[in-house]
Amino acid sequence: MPSMHAHDLCEFIDSSPSAFHAMVTAVAMLEKLGATRLDEREHWNLEAGRTYFLVRDDASLVAVRIGADAPAESGFAIAGAHADAPGLRIRHEKTVIDRGLERAAVEAYGGPIHSSWVDRPLSMAGRIIVRGPDGRAQTRLLDTGRPVAIIPNLAIHFNREMNKGVEYPMHSALLPLVSGNGESGMPAVSWALRTAARELGVEPESIVSAELSFVDAGASFVWGDDGEFICAPRIDNLEGCHAILTAFGAAPAGSHSHVAVLFDNEEIGSGTQRGADSAFLRDILARIVATTGGRGVEDEQRALARSFCVSVDGAQGWHPSYADKFDEDFSPLLNRGPAIKANANVRYATDAIGEAAFRTWCAAAGVPSQRFRMRADLAPGSTIGPISAAHLGVRTVDVGVPMLAMHSARETAGSYDHDYMIVALKGFYTAGPDR
Ligand code: CO
Repeated sequence: MPSMHAHDLCEFIDSSPSAFHAMVTAVAMLEKLGATRLDEREHWNLEAGRTYFLVRDDASLVAVRIGADAPAESGFAIAGAHADAPGLRIRHEKTVIDRGLERAAVEAYGGPIHSSWVDRPLSMAGRIIVRGPDGRAQTRLLDTGRPVAIIPNLAIHFNREMNKGVEYPMHSALLPLVSGNGESGMPAVSWALRTAARELGVEPESIVSAELSFVDAGASFVWGDDGEFICAPRIDNLEGCHAILTAFGAAPAGSHSHVAVLFDNEEIGSGTQRGADSAFLRDILARIVATTGGRGVEDEQRALARSFCVSVDGAQGWHPSYADKFDEDFSPLLNRGPAIKANANVRYATDAIGEAAFRTWCAAAGVPSQRFRMRADLAPGSTIGPISAAHLGVRTVDVGVPMLAMHSARETAGSYDHDYMIVALKGFYTAGPDR
């Protein structure tokens, strides 16, 4: 049986080459639900049963459906994910030209697998700040949507040991080749800004600044005997974002309030004004309490004390070619349901009560669930879960679909796991935070 949502996920990923674009894609989904945009600078008038959202700094988002009860009485059912992905950030000011070959300078964003970026068609996406004729700065999003760069490997004849593993330094080997027409010396305008200006139809001099990345230019696809796999860039963690938004859209309004939060900057530690390690979510929740009849700090804290958060982020799925890297018994398999991630040092926020609650929602929805534990002699990654839990004081469980090749330019996950995650999250939103 084909997956219900795998193709939608592929479309979501392909239209979200950067966290900025992911917000536009997410907003389109929310507007389809009839959600109203809020502005952090204006007064809010929130009504029970209605859905609202706000975007901070073009890259993080909170959506809320106000429950029939005040949040202090029934709490928030919160699901959160990150919208950024590890990869190659473009140093838009710098271009390197040698004998006519022009390369764009890059730096790593987060922890990408360097070798996965080599010999792969790359497009360019991100946001550009343009100075308009009236002198005001304007934000424009850019996605070339077609290959504009490639990082060619070294011929094997220069390194016969190549297949034993190669280091690709970010400052030299990983510079993407972008043009064969470079003049010698540093050009007045870098390739990235020249290209951005041409794509946007503006003069290069009007571009004030930019945040651009190279992204895999290939399309996402569903494959396997029965369409059981998804191969796509940024599955970590656009899968989580899409699952949350889809479940949020499908959940019926209840007595408690539903919250969906997408954070930028998880891959670099979350410590930004729009990341999970900030006052962002707590401030917004406090404001929702205050603008739905809550009285002061006590009602805010009562609301948080009644809340629950599901942190959704990819899990390392069992890989048949590297079985010795995994715990023999508790490594999640693709297409066997969401994995609940736990760790003694709380790199994942899951505790016993949180795990029990998530298992209950899965079981009630007829969704299988699994357990992910890293081998005891290896350290797992982390998520927004523990960070957000520390800021909110809200019980949090860390869950995610298993995937292969996490942090590669292209990852592989199970199509059915995406369906399972959506059903489980819809069950959580519907049941509410009371456990
Ligand atoms: Co992640």
